[in-house]
Amino acid sequence: MSNKDKSRWIRSISIGLFIFLLFSLYLFARRGYYNLYIINKVFGSTATVLAGVTLLIGPLSKRFPFFAKGMTIRRQMGLLAFVLALIHVVISTLFLPNKFPVSWFTKEWLPITFGVLAVITWVYTAYISRNSKIKELGATVWGKRLSISGQIAFLFIFLHLVVMKSEGWTRWFQGLVKQTPELANPSYPPASLFVLLTMLIVIIFRVYIFSKRFTRSSTGG
Ligand code: HEM
Repeated sequence: MSNKDKSRWIRSISIGLFIFLLFSLYLFARRGYYNLYIINKVFGSTATVLAGVTLLIGPLSKRFPFFAKGMTIRRQMGLLAFVLALIHVVISTLFLPNKFPVSWFTKEWLPITFGVLAVITWVYTAYISRNSKIKELGATVWGKRLSISGQIAFLFIFLHLVVMKSEGWTRWFQGLVKQTPELANPSYPPASLFVLLTMLIVIIFRVYIFSKRFTRSSTGG
């Protein structure tokens, strides 16, 4: 690995660690404890936010030069997010049988299906992100494919989150979530609402860019 690559990985991992720490501290403050159940939430949330950042950097760097630095670490951040998501999948399916038994998975089959689809699309994205694929496909086709498959994976994660969590969010907004031994501060919003907010920012921004490009090309601009 070249020094350049090493430095890119170090920067990506530092950003990942920072987001991981923020979610860990927040969930500890809300829940009052920290264990594998919480760590699993942190892995899923950090992976999602990192994936969102990789989708924002491209369009942001075109408008604001400050973000251009981030362009060089997009690939590392995307791959790091992918690894964190895989850890979240492994913990969810194998290491928390008391929290998530088989009956839970059958009841929650729809959001889990979206999670599986996200992983499959993400595997494809990671597969084509290799340098050898740039030569094989040509830079333009490669860039487009990478961007589209990344965005599709992100939409599947969005559906995984919204379908699984919306009932809990509604209960929280209605003030029905009460203090329990597992929830020290029920007045704090669920951490997944912050993940939702990040995802909405990314999606709205990308839709805005898409619609601008579309109107420009349809008016011949
Ligand atoms: C086979 C695929 C997947 C499975 C089996 C799975 C499993 C789960 C489970 C069991 C939960 C509930 C956690 C809880 O309530 O504590 C969850 C929530 C979540 N998952 Fe996944 N997941 C999958 C894919 C993904 C992917 C690809 C991502 C994106 C990186 C992701 C991100 C999240 C997020 C952000 C949450 C909400 C965490 C929270 O409650 O704060 N999941 N997932």
